[in-house]
Amino acid sequence: MAKTYDYLFKLLLIGDSGVGKTKILVRFSDDTFKSTFISTIGIDFKICTGELEGKKIKLQIGDTAGQERFGTITTTYYRGAMGIMLVYDITAVKSFENIKKWLGNVKEYAAEDVVRMILGNKCDMTDERKVKKEKGEMLAAEHGIKFMETSAKTGQGVEEAFLTLARDIKAKMDQKSDPVESGGGSSGGVTATVQRLTDRPRRSCCTLM
Ligand code: GTP
Ligand code: MG
Repeated sequence: MAKTYDYLFKLLLIGDSGVGKTKILVRFSDDTFKSTFISTIGIDFKICTGELEGKKIKLQIGDTAGQERFGTITTTYYRGAMGIMLVYDITAVKSFENIKKWLGNVKEYAAEDVVRMILGNKCDMTDERKVKKEKGEMLAAEHGIKFMETSAKTGQGVEEAFLTLARDIKAKMDQKSDPVESGGGSSGGVTATVQRLTDRPRRSCCTLM
């Protein structure tokens, strides 16, 4: 079968149970939100396709279970990930403190050059906020990684987060590959015009498992 994409990016969502990893992914893939909490067992995958900088991209996104008991299963998927989103809940201090633990897991189990990103989710819950945006920004800056606040409920920041991660991975890949081959006039693709994944018709997504 002919390859239908130019790039395949393998992404992973990690973070404490209940921070909203599954809801973020469902918001991104289906543009919907339901408030019922069904805790993920092990890992679920979704495949999304879209366009980035004029190239067809395929995203394989792994949504891991945050519950401790699944740690041995989920960490086996870190190695293959090109990008990892570390998610906390802005209304739950513990989930923010645990980002350090999750960063430690990434260091231990993921590839050295994996692109990381920290997301402070549930930013629609302004009255219950316990973690200031600046705290998230500072933590991310300490580790030299990008930070965004998101809301799976309203959709705020969700698409931008995936786009940013995909763009950063692509830039890294383009940099690594032979500049003559990948060149086409643009320098590494970072500064090339970004075509939004959001352009209608919407990207297509399907659940794998
Ligand atoms: P595990 O699968 O156990 O690791 O949890 P998870 O991180 O996948 O959490 P999930 O996405 O299932 O969301 C947990 C709960 O938080 C659900 O009841 C959601 O409705 C709620 N939730 C998730 N994201 C948001 C958000 O952005 N805003 C609000 N208000 N609620 C959210
Ligand atoms: Mg989940």
